[in-house]
Amino acid sequence: MAKIIVVTSGKGGVGKTTSAAAIATGLALRGKKTVVIDFDVGLRNLDLIMGCERRVVYDLINVIQGEAGLNQAMIRDKRVDNLHILPASQTRDKDALSAEGVEKVLDTLTKDFDYVVCDSPAGIERGAQLAMYYADEAVVVTNPEVSSVRDSDRILGLLGSKTRRAEQGQDPVKEHLLITRYDPERVNHGDMLNLEDIQEILSINLIGLIPESEAVLRASNQGVPVTHDQKSDAGQAYVDTVSRLLGEDIPLRFHEYQKKSLLSRVFGGGRR
Ligand SMILES: Nc1ncnc2c1ncn2[C@@H]1O[C@H](COP(=O)(O)OP(=O)(O)OP(=O)(O)O)[C@@H](O)[C@H]1O
Ligand SMILES: [Mg+2]
Repeated sequence: MAKIIVVTSGKGGVGKTTSAAAIATGLALRGKKTVVIDFDVGLRNLDLIMGCERRVVYDLINVIQGEAGLNQAMIRDKRVDNLHILPASQTRDKDALSAEGVEKVLDTLTKDFDYVVCDSPAGIERGAQLAMYYADEAVVVTNPEVSSVRDSDRILGLLGSKTRRAEQGQDPVKEHLLITRYDPERVNHGDMLNLEDIQEILSINLIGLIPESEAVLRASNQGVPVTHDQKSDAGQAYVDTVSRLLGEDIPLRFHEYQKKSLLSRVFGGGRR
């Protein structure tokens, strides 16, 4: 039986899709049979980040509406065995995503996969609630700023009350904090919340910290999840995150401010 992990946030644009793609890729690279599902009906970003947008024929809504089978809609990743993508539809009709339809798709997938990763849309409305409803675990993506932390807190409220696990009185959804776009220099200057503040406000298990990194933009432009860029700080930070999701105890990296030396200030040496 697969574990269902929702990647969620409340606030938009904090790095959910980047993280869902990077985490799913990392899990598959560790030999776990993984499918990553785009729940962002209407926007459809995941296939771009995964680099398979030209191969999309059918999508999640087609499957839910019985117009295609799961095997017709799922796209096999061209780089990693064991990794599949189920794209979102570009339809404007958000109601096409029905609870029964989602349940049926997830029930089928959990029988065949080790991990089902759900990329949630922003907000706390229906789409986001459906993406989290069946989850066993949640990765709550948060940027080091007040509005993002506040919206993550609202999501934690929903995870504790509006999920299948909550409604059926089962063990609660396992919540993990993933801090993304962390810039130690700006944190040090007091422009952004620091790690300890965020942890104190949300008080859930920290699963990873992804630094602000040019490698993320480069990766998304190339349609290659940043996990593949093992020379980059962000790529390494996602690998650490996946190891922790698999239960390993890995020390935190990339959170400390290192003052630039005179040489690097003169000759550049920007973050990769
Ligand atoms: N660690 C990072 N360093 C630099 N840029 C990043 C990082 N993570 C994400 N980004 C950038 O932030 C933007 C938003 O990322 P992404 O699309 O993953 O967010 P999202 O939460 O899925 O957005 P939405 O709520 O619209 O679905 C993108 O331009 C992405 O390249
Ligand atoms: Mg997204």
